[in-house]
Amino acid sequence: MREQLQALQQEALTRLQGAGSVAELEQIRVQTLGKKGSLTLLLRGLAGVSVAERPVLGELANALKDAFNVALQRRMEILQEEDLARRLVAEQLDVTLPGRVPPQGGIHPISRALGEIIAIFSSMGFPPATGPEVEDDWHNFEALNIPADHPAREMHDTFYLPPGIKGEKRLLRTHTSTVQIRVMESRKPPLRVIAPGKVFRCDSDLTHTPMFHQVEGFLVDEGVHFGQLKGILERFLRLFFARELPVRFRPSFFPFTEPSAEADMGCLFCDGGGCRVCKGTGWIEVLGCGLIHPNVLANVGIDQERYSGFAFGMGVERLAMLKYGIQDLRLFFENDLRFLQQHARL
Ligand code: DAH
Repeated sequence: MREQLQALQQEALTRLQGAGSVAELEQIRVQTLGKKGSLTLLLRGLAGVSVAERPVLGELANALKDAFNVALQRRMEILQEEDLARRLVAEQLDVTLPGRVPPQGGIHPISRALGEIIAIFSSMGFPPATGPEVEDDWHNFEALNIPADHPAREMHDTFYLPPGIKGEKRLLRTHTSTVQIRVMESRKPPLRVIAPGKVFRCDSDLTHTPMFHQVEGFLVDEGVHFGQLKGILERFLRLFFARELPVRFRPSFFPFTEPSAEADMGCLFCDGGGCRVCKGTGWIEVLGCGLIHPNVLANVGIDQERYSGFAFGMGVERLAMLKYGIQDLRLFFENDLRFLQQHARL
């Protein structure tokens, strides 16, 4: 019995040393100390041993068990350490390797132009406001003094949408002038706001895209006059193009302003001499403007005796094309990488 125990100890310890994995260790433990393990079976045999020998062998068996458990634990630690060391090598990261160069992104020229326009007007006290792109007839037309049968509606090539839940007419806004109405309806004068955003018209050719960007601006206060409007717009154009440009105002018509005007600036490409861009005139039309029509003020419940206002609207694509020397409107939306690499900056 004693020899058997010693042999068993020897064998179990040798097997532990040879175990190559935690799973293998567990197998050896079960085969030794488990219900049908070799040591368990041997200890059961103690019953047949003489009473004198029993305590000695019992003690020996316990010592063997302890030794086995200690050896098991040690081996377990070693295996875990080896495993960790192996993983550390296998999963090693060489942090000195050069990183992957991230794709070089940039700000799209339309966003750049919008950002600059917003910055200039903010500096003149016109903070940006927004409105929904899906609009109703009131905000896009009616409140802006464009009634249902008005010929000005023809110019807008409106995208109409199915009616809303309450049966209201819905459309994609054709201009950002809608935000004038929304702001005037929800706030009290004095007001000073610009409204940058997307607008939509059912029109697509060399010089028109169904979606484009506008910036609307307006001011409502006491004693507003055309001279202030001219001053603000001249200042804006000179800051945006970073040049001392000549600017002129031509009488025009918009239903929501009276009087109305269009502003031209001196051609950037020929300095007034006449070229292809300005069609030989030396002037480039850049925006529409005017004093807010009394009907519009009445529509939003602003007291016309006390307040008056001016408004203006401009196309962002057009300004960006002039500023960055981009000849074809479609380039903005095709996302040709060569174009973006040339014009998209951080
Ligand atoms: N809403 C006009 C358009 O889309 C632009 C415009 C012209 C806005 C004159 C104005 C304005 O506020 O006074 O063509």
